[in-house]
Amino acid sequence: MLNNEFNDIIKKKFSGEIFDTISRVADEMNLECYAIGGYVRDIFLRRASKDIDIVTIGKGIELAEAVTKALGRKANLSVFKNFGTAQIKYKDTEIEFVGARKESYNRDSRKPIVEDGTLEDDQNRRDFTINALAICLNKDRFGELLDPFGGLKDMDSLTIRTPLDPDITFSDDPLRMLRAIRFSSQLGFDIEPKTFDAISRNKDRIEIISRERIIDEVNKIVLSPKPSVGFLQLDQTGLLSIIFPELVALKGAETKEGVGHKDNFYHTLVVLDNISKKTDNLWLRWSAILHDIAKPATKRWDNKFGWTFHNHNFIGEKMIPGIFRRMKLPLNEKMKYVQKMVTLHMRPQVLVDEEISDSAIRRLLFEAGDDIDDLMTLCEADITSKNPDKVRRYLRNFEIVRQKLRDIEEKDQVRNFQPPIKGEEIMEMFGLGPGVEVGRLKASIKDAILDGVIPNEYDAAYNYLIEKAKKIGLKPKGDDVR
Ligand code: CTP
Repeated sequence: MLNNEFNDIIKKKFSGEIFDTISRVADEMNLECYAIGGYVRDIFLRRASKDIDIVTIGKGIELAEAVTKALGRKANLSVFKNFGTAQIKYKDTEIEFVGARKESYNRDSRKPIVEDGTLEDDQNRRDFTINALAICLNKDRFGELLDPFGGLKDMDSLTIRTPLDPDITFSDDPLRMLRAIRFSSQLGFDIEPKTFDAISRNKDRIEIISRERIIDEVNKIVLSPKPSVGFLQLDQTGLLSIIFPELVALKGAETKEGVGHKDNFYHTLVVLDNISKKTDNLWLRWSAILHDIAKPATKRWDNKFGWTFHNHNFIGEKMIPGIFRRMKLPLNEKMKYVQKMVTLHMRPQVLVDEEISDSAIRRLLFEAGDDIDDLMTLCEADITSKNPDKVRRYLRNFEIVRQKLRDIEEKDQVRNFQPPIKGEEIMEMFGLGPGVEVGRLKASIKDAILDGVIPNEYDAAYNYLIEKAKKIGLKPKGDDVR
């Protein structure tokens, strides 16, 4: 970056009420004061950032208190005495204050801190050179960049590197091994070889890190522009076997009697990259990661058909709660959505067949509901053939399926199926209490509609219900009176 351009950007990014106030108050208190970390990094990456980290030489909390006062009523201060940090929330910005320290900077660490240090001590103990850049905020040195480890050069060459010997940096906080891979995947940076080797060497130390912190980083990898970049590095360093062994189990392509099957690990990563071009929906991306997760558990050799993976979609659905629980992913409707995607991911393929009945299409619409478009996106991402003609043909077929789905939905509206006759009405009609009989009658109406026996309308459903009830010896209440 040219010097002038650099100065202009710095001026722009550090102007305005917040920085003016911090600068003025720090000068009044005679405190050296710097912006550091992600906010500074993101300026050079031209990414917007709302989180500002401020380092002072001594008295981080006192500076935060004085800045809060100066900003007025809209500023909210939280002080974390044990950690020597304080945070101001002001409008939509969060500003974190810390006194420079000699020991590792790790806001999540439970260890109370710390010995005061110089700016350079503080920069030393940060995770990566690109996160250790500091900009001075005091008036007489305003905008001066302090970059003792060549962070700017690493920014230019797109390199992730630790400021100190990586064994020290990673031992200070082993989560940084995952952060290195996350930044690499998120920003398209390479991890410098010594740093990378240290991750492989120290991988087992990840065990001391909480699963909540780990999944935060994994989710950021999943949400990165090309997540396979991160997953391949997790695999190469051995971290993946520790945090997500089920995914590693997909590796390998066995051959028997000259018949091979694809390597489902690399296939899954291609599906994940494909879907990431189409959606930022974290849970749809997780569905791609998990769609074939039960292939190792269901793999069989069949003398007639070769390799088979029968029911891998259903078994996969059943594996998901265990994986989500262990990885501290949510056990709520997000998980149910992923389970639904995994169970249904083979179904649209069947609908390609020209002879397919409307009822098969209605059943899928009914089961997928509003998630039908996401399911089709997953199926399209699942096409990983290297033959462009095949890819084109499969995509065309899925376009035909999408059209069939649209046509049937327009005609029958089963996507958000609401039974035309409710359970209460059935109870009222036949003088029944709640129980299995009502449930069966309700289900028979639903099946008749999905199978195309009757249209999705009240009168048709009513007549069908009367007939059905008669067969099992039930009469409408009014009949007794007559
Ligand atoms: N940091 C660190 N080691 C960690 C976490 C954070 O050294 N394990 C330092 C880095 O200097 C980092 C700063 O603390 O830049 C702020 O951390 P955080 O807000 O967690 O991350 P960012 O770098 O801002 O990036 P992102 O917001 O994308 O997580």
